[in-house]
Amino acid sequence: MAILCAVCTQAQNTRSKAPQLGKDPIDKVVAAMTLEEKAQLLIGGNHEFSIDKVGKSYDLVPWAAGMTISIPRLGIPFTVETDGPAGVRIKPTRDGDSKMYYCTGFPVATLLASTWNPVVVKKVGQAMGNEVLEYGCDVLLAPAINLHRNPLCGRNFEYYSEDPLLIGKTAAAMVHGIQSQGVGTSVKHFAGNDQETFRTENSSQISQRALRELYLKGFEIAVKESQPWTIMSSYNRLNGVYTQEDYPLLTTLLRDEWGFKGIVMTDWIGKRNTVAQVHAGNDLMMPGQAVQVKEIIDEVKSGKLSMSDVDRNVKRMLQFIMKTPHFRKYAFTNAPDLKAHAEVAREAAEEGITLLKNDNNTLPMKDVKTVALFGNGSYNFLAGGTGSGEVNKAYVVNVQQGLEDAGFSISEEIKALYIGAGEEIPISPGYAKRNAANSDIAVITFSRQAGEGADRHNTKGDFYLTNKEKAIITNVTNAYHAVGKKVIVVLNIGGVIETASWKNIPDAILLVWQTSQEGGHAIADILTGKVNPSGKLPMTFPMDYMDIPSSKNFPYNYYGEHFDASKKNIGYTNYEEGIWVGYRYFNTFNKEVSYPFGYGLSYTTFEFKDAKVKKSGNNCVVTVSITNTGSVAGKEVAELYTAAPKGKLEKPACELKAYAKTKVLQPGESEVVSMTFSVPDMASFDEATNSWVTDAGTYKILIGSSVQDIHQTLTLKVNKAIVQKAQAKM
Ligand code: BGC
Repeated sequence: MAILCAVCTQAQNTRSKAPQLGKDPIDKVVAAMTLEEKAQLLIGGNHEFSIDKVGKSYDLVPWAAGMTISIPRLGIPFTVETDGPAGVRIKPTRDGDSKMYYCTGFPVATLLASTWNPVVVKKVGQAMGNEVLEYGCDVLLAPAINLHRNPLCGRNFEYYSEDPLLIGKTAAAMVHGIQSQGVGTSVKHFAGNDQETFRTENSSQISQRALRELYLKGFEIAVKESQPWTIMSSYNRLNGVYTQEDYPLLTTLLRDEWGFKGIVMTDWIGKRNTVAQVHAGNDLMMPGQAVQVKEIIDEVKSGKLSMSDVDRNVKRMLQFIMKTPHFRKYAFTNAPDLKAHAEVAREAAEEGITLLKNDNNTLPMKDVKTVALFGNGSYNFLAGGTGSGEVNKAYVVNVQQGLEDAGFSISEEIKALYIGAGEEIPISPGYAKRNAANSDIAVITFSRQAGEGADRHNTKGDFYLTNKEKAIITNVTNAYHAVGKKVIVVLNIGGVIETASWKNIPDAILLVWQTSQEGGHAIADILTGKVNPSGKLPMTFPMDYMDIPSSKNFPYNYYGEHFDASKKNIGYTNYEEGIWVGYRYFNTFNKEVSYPFGYGLSYTTFEFKDAKVKKSGNNCVVTVSITNTGSVAGKEVAELYTAAPKGKLEKPACELKAYAKTKVLQPGESEVVSMTFSVPDMASFDEATNSWVTDAGTYKILIGSSVQDIHQTLTLKVNKAIVQKAQAKM
């Protein structure tokens, strides 16, 4: 007994002598770590063997995507990382527990970008962050901010926009919101992960200019404006190099040039070149394999991996861990306020829903009691996408329920036809005619689903409406128009579809994206005019798929062939279009589009006047007065584009540099909104000199309510060119 106690005391003494994270300087903690402990800390905790034997993330928080290991003797706790961009993704049920662990299904990222409202996005972030915290997690694996290069990327619903400024500002607002709750974010997937086909092998071949101006710019803004705790490197290769092993990308650019202070974690891949990853500054390997721990130990011993690289990453890991709820021993409740968060989801949905067409003031609906609801999406409504961007939510309010809750009668006959059908039911002219007599208006909802791991196709049923869907629009519209009634098409989609060939048929088109678990309620509020739509497109809707320059180099016709490194769009993808993505292309080359970037209608009208610019040094503040000139209250967005003078480089006709959304303006009410940017924000990237160049000359400032609808023009003189040398070359 006495001997045993002596051993205990000795062990305690040894333990108490070990430096403790948070109490002792980090360098001391690093110095006290064994090589095995260091290696374990750099490798995520989801593998069978780890020195803390705590288990896997899905034992701690079921279905959480990953974790880092704990080292109790040094006061280092484990941390838990969970998806994703539309809310927390954990398992809703637990063994031997009758409680449900639901999370709020917020609107998809594309809808959030359509709000053009950082205040609303931040509020969504706060609610998401609170669910991360209260469900015992430390990091939300979001926001996802790859560029909408091509509408058929399977994950576009998780991403924001075709414009890097809108991406960066939306992401920064989201990071601020989430991190305000004392939990972390992981801005992903860094970088060039703009297609899903063979995403773990494909090399995105991107010029330095397109990279800097488009594909990296959103990340740059998000990092500089919001300092996310973590960045997730992507699966793909960038110009031949796996991003996880890319020193110029992860260290020279991200840390040296942009000042990133957090950690980089890999996307959820198995083992790659661990030595190269550690050296490149990829601090954490997720979800982690025991063999990677061994490899770090072996290669430090063999001299292939330097101890200083390991220590540098370990130190950053400890700095990250010290910020987490698990480090501060936060007593999570497993009971976030889901009711309050559902309200946040609904408010955001209402702010991002975009009105594409509204002939003869069809909307808001007037004198309507009975609604005929056609289209599978009216009943089998999609709140979000699939894959890691999916959320296990308690319920989804579909269009039918939303309208019923708002007091409308729904045609029971049509409802019976669709419920449980699971596919699109044809509607004959006769059937439509009979229903036109029994209802006041028709609403047709079409849905499209997509998700991680696969891209969409330029086929009917995906990018194009099917013949059946088109026939529904035609037959229903003919029947309703014959008796003087209106038809509204609701688009419940995650990415862009073709609209040009059918948009002239119905009276109104409402783009609701994948609208959250509160979708039906938000849609009803817009249809009834309780809320005036104020969403604006974060991307262009083209006339046709092949009009998009990147379509020449995108796997839209990939149907399961084997991987072949030498095959175009499979092994590698040439971003041949360079900077000509989205409106930068369509606007510069005067190509017709179906709906332009930044477009979205309102139930009221606005007048823009008195635009002014004040330049002090490089800082430019632009103000413009916006007046509600219509008869109902509403919000408007001022979009500020700049057009550069002719210089050495060919440039887009204009580029978004700032934007601002008004508060709700009552009829007759005005607001002066203010937008800020700096002169070097107008720079282009000159590959010849590896530098950002802002040419001297006279720039135009264009303020409008879409890229094609400019209301006010100012000029801005830049007397002397500004050249800023870059360091990294990716
Ligand atoms: C996805 C990431 C996600 C991770 C963890 C990966 O397959 O690409 O976006 O965060 O899985 O679930």
